Amino acid sequence: MKKFTTVNDIGDIKGAVKEALEVKANRFAYSELGRNRTLLMVFFNSSLRTRLSTQKAAMNLGMNVIVLDVNQGAWKLETERGVIMDGDKAEHMLEAIPVMGSYCDIIGVRSFARFENKAADYNEEILNQFIKYSGRPVFSMEAATRHPLQSFADLITIEEFKEAERPKVVMTWAPHPKALPQAVPNSFAEWMNATDYDFVITHPEGYELDPQFTGKARIEYDQAKALEGADFVYAKNWAAYTGDNYGKVLSTDRSWTVDAEKMKLTNNARFMHCLPVRRNMIVSDDVIESERSIVIPEAANREISAQVVLKRMLESL
Ligand code: CP
Repeated sequence: MKKFTTVNDIGDIKGAVKEALEVKANRFAYSELGRNRTLLMVFFNSSLRTRLSTQKAAMNLGMNVIVLDVNQGAWKLETERGVIMDGDKAEHMLEAIPVMGSYCDIIGVRSFARFENKAADYNEEILNQFIKYSGRPVFSMEAATRHPLQSFADLITIEEFKEAERPKVVMTWAPHPKALPQAVPNSFAEWMNATDYDFVITHPEGYELDPQFTGKARIEYDQAKALEGADFVYAKNWAAYTGDNYGKVLSTDRSWTVDAEKMKLTNNARFMHCLPVRRNMIVSDDVIESERSIVIPEAANREISAQVVLKRMLESL
C-alpha cells in the first residue's frame, strides 16, 4: 500500500476487517517487520487518539517514530507557490516535504480543512503535496475531507458489536459551539456505503454533506424518525458544506443532542462518537456513560486500524 487516504485504498473491505481482527488477536506478530524503519507523523492540528494510537501501532510493528508538530517549534510553512515570502512564513512546503521524506520511510499527515477556501480544502491541497513531493508512502491522519483511520476503526467496532447481520446504522448531526470540518462524517458515510448496512444520515436542513460521500445513504431530516429501530447511533457535528454557508455554524439547537429519550427510539442501540466529544451538546452524560456506549472500544480500535495500514505499507517497501 503506497497511499491511504480513502476507503478505496483499503481494497476488499471484508478482507480488511478480517486482517484487523487477526492483528488485534496477536498485535506483536509482526514486531520485526518495522525494524530499522521510521514513521514520521506530521501534525498541523491537535490530536490525542491519532497521535497515541498510531505511535503505538508503529511500536507494535517494531518501528521508530518521529513526531513533528508543525505549529509548535517548526518553521512556519508557506503552502502556496508563487508567493513572495516576505511575511512570517520562513520555509516553503516544497522544500520542507522532501526534506521530511529524507528522514523516514512512511509519513502520516494531519491537516484539517481551514474553511478559508472550499476548493483548496476539497482538493486536499496539503495532503496531496505530501503524496506528490515526499517520495514516501503517505497516509491520512485526518485531512480536510476524510478521516479514514477513524472510519476503519468505526467499521471494525461495528463488526465486533453488531447483533444483526445487516445492522441499521444512523449517523446524526448534533450541536457544537464551533465550526467543525466535515471530514469525519464524510469519511464515515463513505465507509458505511462500502458495506451492505442499512445506513441513514439525519441532520437539520442546511447541513447537507457533499453527495460524493453520502452516496446511497438515506437522508432523513426528522431525527426521531431516523433513530427508530437503529442498532448503532453515530453522533457527530459538522459545519455547513453547501454554497456560501461553507464552514459556518447554522444552528446550535440542543433539541438535536443525543439523550436517553432519543435512545429509547432505537433498537437498544450502541452509541458511538469518534471523540473528543462535548458532553451535553453532542450527547448527554447518561448516554455516553451508559453500558450501550462503545466510545472507548471504538477509540481503542484506532490502534488496530493504524496497525493494518502501517503493516501493509511496510510490506510494500
Ligand atoms: N478521533 C480522533 O481523531 O481523535 P484525535 O483528534 O484526538 O486524534
